[in-house]
Amino acid sequence: MSEKRLLITGAGGFLGQTLCRSALSGWSVYGAVRRRSPFDDRVHSVQTDLTSPNERKRLFAAVRPHAVIHAAAEANPNRCQKHSTAARRINVDASIHIAELCAEREIPCLFTSTDLVFDGNTPPYSETDLPSPISIYGFQKAEAEKEMAARYPQTVICRLPLMFGYCLDGPSGFEAEMVRSLASRKRVGLFFDEFRTPVDTESIASGLLWLLNRGIHGIIHLGGRTRISRYQMGRIAARRLGADPSLLDRISRNDVEMPAPRPADVSLNSDRAFSLGYTPADFETAYWGVIRRLATGP
Ligand SMILES: NC(=O)c1ccc[n+]([C@@H]2O[C@H](COP(=O)([O-])OP(=O)(O)OC[C@H]3O[C@@H](n4cnc5c(N)ncnc54)[C@H](OP(=O)(O)O)[C@@H]3O)[C@@H](O)[C@H]2O)c1
Repeated sequence: MSEKRLLITGAGGFLGQTLCRSALSGWSVYGAVRRRSPFDDRVHSVQTDLTSPNERKRLFAAVRPHAVIHAAAEANPNRCQKHSTAARRINVDASIHIAELCAEREIPCLFTSTDLVFDGNTPPYSETDLPSPISIYGFQKAEAEKEMAARYPQTVICRLPLMFGYCLDGPSGFEAEMVRSLASRKRVGLFFDEFRTPVDTESIASGLLWLLNRGIHGIIHLGGRTRISRYQMGRIAARRLGADPSLLDRISRNDVEMPAPRPADVSLNSDRAFSLGYTPADFETAYWGVIRRLATGP
């Protein structure tokens, strides 16, 4: 095992689980977790609550990382909207302090931000476009980005798109729900008027690990090459599964009341990353890989 220690926060999360496993080939991996585990015995799991400044310092003192990928967050926009003060502690305060702890040690720090820092009115968005968030989640991520860029400019701010993937601790998330519904012939409502540039979690994990060794800093977009709506994604899943496509209902984001406002089109322009060598998997191939795995088991 490598002597180089990589600290990954949010190691038990949707992205964190895959990221930890992908990192094992080049790093000794330390996963900071709150409740969920990294789901791989080879990852050194460290229990911590990152909203406590003392716990953050203790974590860094215990692990003595050579690099950090900060993937812990309150990443659910509706929960951020309803519990903004609690969300702020992890999304803003903890993130800025983690960038500071990395700057003090002169080690690389990758921050996982989001395409939801944009309002969705003028896509596609490149790194030079100014954030224009419309939800508390987007505001908090944009604020963390701004502070990090101003105070700790060596931080790499990675804006991630909508992700899809297979959770190692069992099927969960949007795609798992959709596959279950289609198999039991339940109707599924999918937005036809909300567009993203989705990427599978394995490609995002490879992209983040690749960035660690590039000497890049500042903002970088890690979106995919395909702009697509949830409804179109559902059509692909139904067709490839041989399920009845009439079970999919086209719904508008304006017809569903949710705590957090939803932007129409936050497609990312990721040409900077593509030109540097970021190569996410082809959308349909990766999407079908995940859907098939969810339908048939690991
Ligand atoms: N999912 C997406 O489509 C998407 C899109 C764009 C950007 N992102 C960003 O990508 C990153 C990873 O997202 P994700 O989807 O993997 O989110 P996730 O599944 O919700 O994972 C986030 C992790 O953060 C941990 N966490 C939250 N509060 C914590 C605290 N106080 N102390 C320690 N750990 C804490 C959670 O631990 P517990 O589970 O144990 O509570 C959870 O495992 C986030 O920065 C998110 O904003 C995600």
